[in-house]
Amino acid sequence: MAKLKTTFFCQNCGSQYSKWQGQCTACKEWNTITEEVIQKPEKSDWKAAATSSKRISKPLKINEIDTSQEARLNTVDEEFNRVLGGGLVPGSLTLLGGEPGIGKSTLLLQISLKLPFKTLYVSGEESMKQIKMRAERINPNTNNCYILTETKTQNIFKQITDLEPDIVVIDSIQTLHSDYIESSAGSISQIKECTTELIKFAKETSTPVILIGHITKDGHIAGPKILEHMVDTVLQFEGDRNHVFRILRSNKNRFGSTNELGIYEMQGSGLREVSNPSEILISQKDDELSGNAIAATLEGMRPLMIEVQALVSTAVYGTPQRSATGFNAKRLNMLLAVLEKRAGFRLGAKDVFLNITGGITVDDPAIDLAVVASILSSNEDIALQKDFCFAAEIGLSGEVRPVQRVEQRILEAEKLGFSTIFVSKYNKISLKNTVIKIQLISKIEDIIDLIC
Ligand code: TYD
Ligand code: MG
Repeated sequence: MAKLKTTFFCQNCGSQYSKWQGQCTACKEWNTITEEVIQKPEKSDWKAAATSSKRISKPLKINEIDTSQEARLNTVDEEFNRVLGGGLVPGSLTLLGGEPGIGKSTLLLQISLKLPFKTLYVSGEESMKQIKMRAERINPNTNNCYILTETKTQNIFKQITDLEPDIVVIDSIQTLHSDYIESSAGSISQIKECTTELIKFAKETSTPVILIGHITKDGHIAGPKILEHMVDTVLQFEGDRNHVFRILRSNKNRFGSTNELGIYEMQGSGLREVSNPSEILISQKDDELSGNAIAATLEGMRPLMIEVQALVSTAVYGTPQRSATGFNAKRLNMLLAVLEKRAGFRLGAKDVFLNITGGITVDDPAIDLAVVASILSSNEDIALQKDFCFAAEIGLSGEVRPVQRVEQRILEAEKLGFSTIFVSKYNKISLKNTVIKIQLISKIEDIIDLIC
């Protein structure tokens, strides 16, 4: 028997090695390298033996390239269209990631059922009956959606060749396996191979393919990072499983901006598109509490509204306590010193506790203003209006400094239904016709007059 060909892959980053080693040299993770069997016959394209495509592409001048066929497919779902940048691009591969149980299957089944095109929904996770039961909860009237429960890519392509669907949905990429690779489904080499076959299929037939991807416990899409490089669009479905609201973001989009956000509400009958996001804030509105302020921060490219909570109380011991969770304690001390010097607050005799809700850690300096606002609010015991938010850095002399991408933050705050955003006077803002009020401030003293 011929010797099986094996290679070693890092399960974290997907780097390939010829022999085992304890630490991955690429991502520096320990014990992530495992052996996988790879066996590749000469042809591994999606049509395998059927045809050997020998198309050779020629260079073309950029204005000779025909884009007339690239009209986007409207997915009927407004939020999904928006996040994609206007609809599905023919021949594109979209990857949808998210925590288990967040509603990925529900979202894509619901879209498949609503689509006016012939759709093939391939599930490797659920049986036909389970899918039918789910579909009945969502929308029973449809006759464009075909369901296939299959995990072998060669069989899937066979069905696709017979059915010729306009859109293919795969739930999920980690359950697929290809005959050309020996290792088990969900391993790095299988994911790579199955995705490569699907990309070839999508590009050659101009059929959009949507993949569901599992995520690991630290929030990344399971499988190699290369999966995210291979696909055209990476979407992330997030939200708290115990709450009803879900947010769809795009982390990467070759055909549109990554700033768009889609909001859904999980109901008994599937996901409802939330076109007016301020209703989320209103529905969550309890009593206004002192010491809470919302910061419009950016996490990488993504805007994120974060709640900052502060508690200021009289120090019981001689030395006042300062404690910060999710925020740099040194920076907190600096902000307190600025407040003391510039705004006349005698915080030296007070304990200050600061907490960023949701267990996140924020490095973005734009959170400074919200930290100061929450401290002032707790100190005075006056609640800030819940639809206020803040985005500015604070300098040592008490000046309110501009932050990067302020317009993106303003648009996010507006989208999420905030009434006023406090930003630095020195930020250049060319936005016109915003519904949200943009309050410009230049000194830390200004904020006291405005909020207290
Ligand atoms: P699911 O789509 O199976 O999650 P994923 O594919 O991301 O793992 O979502 C399952 C959850 O959604 C489940 O906890 C029940 C809930 N759900 C509803 O509340 N209403 C519905 O109409 C449906 C179909 C699901
Ligand atoms: Mg699922």
